[in-house]
Amino acid sequence: MNILLLGSGGREHALAWKLAQSHAIATEGGQLFACPGNPGIAQYAECFETDVTDHELVLAFCEQEHIGLVVIGPEAPLVDGLADSLRAEGVAVFGPSAAAAQLEGSKGFTKDLCARANIPTAGYVRTTSLDQAKAALDGFAAPFVLKADGLAAGKGVVIAETRAEAEAALEDMFDGAFGDAGNEVVIEEFMTGEEVSFFALTDGATIVPFGTAQDHKRVGDGDTGPNTGGMGAYSPARVLTPDQRGFVMSRIIAPTVKQMADDGMAYVGVLYAGLMLTEDGPKLVEYNCRFGDPECQVLMMRLEDDLADYLYAAATSALASMPPPKFSQDVALTVVMAANGYPATPEKGGLIDLKDAEAAKDSGGAMVFHAGTVIDEEDGTLRANGGRVLSVTARAADVATAQAAAYAAVDRIDFASGFCRRDIGWREIGRGER
Ligand code: AMP
Ligand code: GLY
Repeated sequence: MNILLLGSGGREHALAWKLAQSHAIATEGGQLFACPGNPGIAQYAECFETDVTDHELVLAFCEQEHIGLVVIGPEAPLVDGLADSLRAEGVAVFGPSAAAAQLEGSKGFTKDLCARANIPTAGYVRTTSLDQAKAALDGFAAPFVLKADGLAAGKGVVIAETRAEAEAALEDMFDGAFGDAGNEVVIEEFMTGEEVSFFALTDGATIVPFGTAQDHKRVGDGDTGPNTGGMGAYSPARVLTPDQRGFVMSRIIAPTVKQMADDGMAYVGVLYAGLMLTEDGPKLVEYNCRFGDPECQVLMMRLEDDLADYLYAAATSALASMPPPKFSQDVALTVVMAANGYPATPEKGGLIDLKDAEAAKDSGGAMVFHAGTVIDEEDGTLRANGGRVLSVTARAADVATAQAAAYAAVDRIDFASGFCRRDIGWREIGRGER
């Protein structure tokens, strides 16, 4: 079976690495294609460029190359309905329809769904004008949580400490600070607790838990500085107890999948729940309709089963026939190396030398997943081409050893115009060895 993977980040490099090991590709002669891919993905896949907003072009490629499965990595093509267009022509797709991707694409949609299905989450109000939003603040106490309704590249959430700050932020939002995403703003009750990520695969009916992770969103050591897409992660997130995992499945994930199916929007793909472990138990912070980045890197590092089999089963309503996926008991930990200036204005074009890290890979070293890299056409060197540039991922029996292995690999990488956090995994290490 030939597989087409869409995307170009560290998440997609990790998916490509696992898909390439799947029997469909590794032993049965199937070919892996990636669009647009990146220099890391190009080690396993034939990369090509096309405009994925032109669904006819993607469809034509699928027909020409006899693609048996399309795996859509990022949220934008999902929210844009690419999965619908492909499915309408009989192509198997891992990823939700545009209607189902509203779980990520519209905060208000998700909050209403939680209300209908009695899913634990923060109290909220949906607002569609500045006056309405300012008045709605009366119903909340500081800190105020304000969310642009639509996709805003992870930047659409403001936590305002005072009413004045909240009103200023609302003015910006309704003034277009996040584009159309801010035409509607959700105001939420503030929750406190530790955050964890929970992943589940579903074909719309059967649900399979697919691992847990904990992300590090702030740019600086000690969780300081601005929010980013994620500076590192580890899996599993032991802070989520087996009882809590059961609660998340039965009270959050299962009712969501059922409600979506009942509403005629069966959800197919990976459901990524951002959770807050509050004093009253786990509550949903948000849904994403794709794998996390860099959480995917640590999940793939631990997955012991054939990834293509599971993604294909989810895409073809066959998850019920699959055994539960096996994940290693080991801990995987990833450190993101970002370009100086990230997240505001990352420096482009910095030289990267991975030779020492690659040489150490076979002697227990880490995997270096490419997130934002490009090969310089003139001199063939590897260059930074994005905010998050590399995702250096190691696996070991315990988190401290995984952390040491990841940083040993980081220290073998020559990337003078890059930086990373030095404390990825600190919470887990602080909890002591298992
Ligand atoms: P979101 O994009 O909805 O995940 O929000 C981004 C981040 O804002 C989350 O990871 C939380 O750290 C924080 N956040 C979002 N909603 C809340 C909430 N209701 N209470 C406290 N923090 C929140
Ligand atoms: N690491 C957070 C995300 O993928 O949304």
